Amino acid sequence: MSEIPSLEELHALHPAQQPDYPDPAKVAEVTAELRKRPPLVFAGECDELKARLAEVAAGRSFLLQGGDCAETFDHVAAADLRAKLRVLLSMAVVLTYAAQVPIVKVGRIAGQYAKPRSSDTETRAGVTLPAYRGDAVNSLEFTAAARTPDPRRLIEVYNRSSASLNLLRAFTKGGFADLRSVHSWNADFVRNSHVEEKYEALSKEIERALAFMVACGVDDQTLRSIDLYSSHEALLLEYEHALTRIDSRTGTPYDTSAHMVWLGDRTRQVDGAHVELLRRLRNPIGVKVGPSAQPGEVVTLLDRLDPEHEPGRITVISRMGAEKVRDLLPPIVTAVEATGRKVAWVSDPMHGNTFTAPSGYKTRAFSQVVEEVNGFFDVHDSLGTWPGGVHIELTGSDVTECVGGVDELGVADLMNRYETACDPRMNRNQALELAFTIAERLAAGSRRFNPVQQYSVEDF
Ligand code: PEP
Ligand code: CO
Repeated sequence: MSEIPSLEELHALHPAQQPDYPDPAKVAEVTAELRKRPPLVFAGECDELKARLAEVAAGRSFLLQGGDCAETFDHVAAADLRAKLRVLLSMAVVLTYAAQVPIVKVGRIAGQYAKPRSSDTETRAGVTLPAYRGDAVNSLEFTAAARTPDPRRLIEVYNRSSASLNLLRAFTKGGFADLRSVHSWNADFVRNSHVEEKYEALSKEIERALAFMVACGVDDQTLRSIDLYSSHEALLLEYEHALTRIDSRTGTPYDTSAHMVWLGDRTRQVDGAHVELLRRLRNPIGVKVGPSAQPGEVVTLLDRLDPEHEPGRITVISRMGAEKVRDLLPPIVTAVEATGRKVAWVSDPMHGNTFTAPSGYKTRAFSQVVEEVNGFFDVHDSLGTWPGGVHIELTGSDVTECVGGVDELGVADLMNRYETACDPRMNRNQALELAFTIAERLAAGSRRFNPVQQYSVEDF
């Protein structure tokens, strides 16, 4: 087998969750076309993220990874991207300032267009059609034509991802992310909530601190830009394979569709096609682990993906559910730590806490999300390991998809602005409120390790 297995070799492993394309010739044509396109990210940037994730694994940084469950072709306009970026930046600022820990920022963005599904089909009023698998595969509309997988959508994924990355680079490097504008990121927020007050107070503090630093001669260039990395689930083998390139500096393969890619809970089979491809790549790799994951199985999987124990290579993203995290996570952490391997331990408090409201909307309760995050912190506190980050589904607008939170959204509110193409996302108030909760846990932890630091988010 060559260094990167061929698509034929991968398909011989019967990959899970792949679309059933009606025309294989068209798939080959599209894949060939994608191979000719320039890379979307550079190998050096992937290495830089890996080095930052190594800091997370070592207990010195915290990962904030977030964005849509499923990006859609309709929502890559500048306003949507800016709003999402603003929420991520605001959360990162809360975490950095209140907990005094460097935050590694990674978006589920610029490529998160393909979804694994629990059922291959969907039935409505007696009509059964293929399930929606993300805009990368088919369209959400419930008609036979819209639901038929179309490989040309992969070219659209590439084009949209490229445009999004371009705009995000402009925003993050061109002054929008200047720390001295923390205030303006949320200028149009409805100022009616406790979270808003807290954020206001915190931005005032930051502005004063920054003014002081600049007056002292601190290089203000470093305050002007931030590093935001892209990530998505590496689900569609044709797309990820076509964007895998050999880095001319090192002669090694990188998936240039994103800085970081992750294996979903449904495609992490040790001998499966997804693991077979991802283990050859040099990108940082995320691995989602849900309640069915056995500790021994996770150890074997990580050995396969990263036999060298390369720092920053592996991020384990647990999504156990609020009720189970305290029981199911410790044996996994203990088994992996016993091998001497250092991974970034990250909590996805969303995917284990989804339920269907009586009205039929798929939702999540903010309280359950917080409960899973607290469980995750408690587990790491009791094992003496570092709670390295969170992975969440959020959006920049005021959607009503998750219940609870500062605005006390109830199930009856879900119908007002339920816009997700897949799983329910936190709106910006809920996301900020979560950031304050996490910051409190982090600040409590860092106070324990560093008694000199007296700072508390309660001070706001
Ligand atoms: C997701 O992150 O949207 C997802 C499908 O997660 P998981 O693989 O953990 O179910
Ligand atoms: Co999701």
